[in-house]
Amino acid sequence: MKKLLLHLDTDPVPSAFDQAVAYDSDVDNIIAYGNATRDNVTPHVHGMIFTRGGKKLKNSAIFIGGSNVAASELVGAAVKKAFFGPVRVSVMLDPNGSNTTAAAVARKVMNGYDITGKKVVIIGAGPVGQRSALYFLKEGAGEVVITSRSMARARVITDQMKEAYGVNVTPGESRSDESVAKLLKDAHVAIASGPAGVCILPKSAWTSSSTLEVVADVNAVPPLGVEGIEVMDNGTEKEGVSFYGAIALGNFKMKVHRGAISALFDSNDQFLDETTIYDIACKVDA
Ligand SMILES: NC(=O)c1ccc[n+]([C@@H]2O[C@H](COP(=O)([O-])OP(=O)(O)OC[C@H]3O[C@@H](n4cnc5c(N)ncnc54)[C@H](OP(=O)(O)O)[C@@H]3O)[C@@H](O)[C@H]2O)c1
Repeated sequence: MKKLLLHLDTDPVPSAFDQAVAYDSDVDNIIAYGNATRDNVTPHVHGMIFTRGGKKLKNSAIFIGGSNVAASELVGAAVKKAFFGPVRVSVMLDPNGSNTTAAAVARKVMNGYDITGKKVVIIGAGPVGQRSALYFLKEGAGEVVITSRSMARARVITDQMKEAYGVNVTPGESRSDESVAKLLKDAHVAIASGPAGVCILPKSAWTSSSTLEVVADVNAVPPLGVEGIEVMDNGTEKEGVSFYGAIALGNFKMKVHRGAISALFDSNDQFLDETTIYDIACKVDA
């Protein structure tokens, strides 16, 4: 039976990237809709759950993407609501690649590195940074700091994370190179998860820390997020610190993304989101 993937994207045009990854994960056909909202997806979901009954349901699945993470999460909730008891299909939620990217960052950094009790500073409090924070805490990091150029914004985000996931993340302010250096003073791990094409971690900051052991950067667009890093760095040691660049992380992210799409077709009852995609990443060789 053909593997069918319903692709619901909150952007007007469904992502070509996400569709290409799905085909590379052995999906036979993709039924894609853009402009997905919580108010218009129910008929599409019914189209998937009412066409193949019983054990055959696992051959249909749903992918939810889009650049607006909050809107995509609302679509995820609407999809869940459209299911009837066991009449459901597996779902993967990966808006803007945030869940697969963060899972890849966390697994790469912790590949052969014991995070227990370590202090992690995540510069950039977008979806990738927030999800990475969850995974480091889950694995026993001692403290995770997440930063914004505005302390007030950082506080709003750490409060939201406390409410949504019950985790304690420390807010930090990264307005200047000096404030970044201060945050790294006693840190062991630094993650640059800022926007593409902006250097947010200068060399002066990471060389001034005597405790820093690992640095990772998700920005593949020059100037890179970390001064002195290279996109292909894959545990490369520089001045006593191990570096992971955006392409090395991206290559692993692709494996995690493909692994998650393949896993959708193992059964009809999975919901792969920020809390569960990490478990898939743990099964993929970093
Ligand atoms: N390698 C991969 O496979 C892969 C896959 C997906 C995404 N990515 C990359 O992951 C990164 C993070 O994605 P995201 O969606 O989490 O990020 P995002 O929400 O676009 O940005 C993260 C944070 O950066 C801060 N920021 C914005 N402009 C800034 C500036 N000029 N200087 C310093 N900070 C600035 C913002 O926080 P404040 O305004 O509060 O300071 C924002 O919350 C992006 O670079 C994206 O390209 C990589």
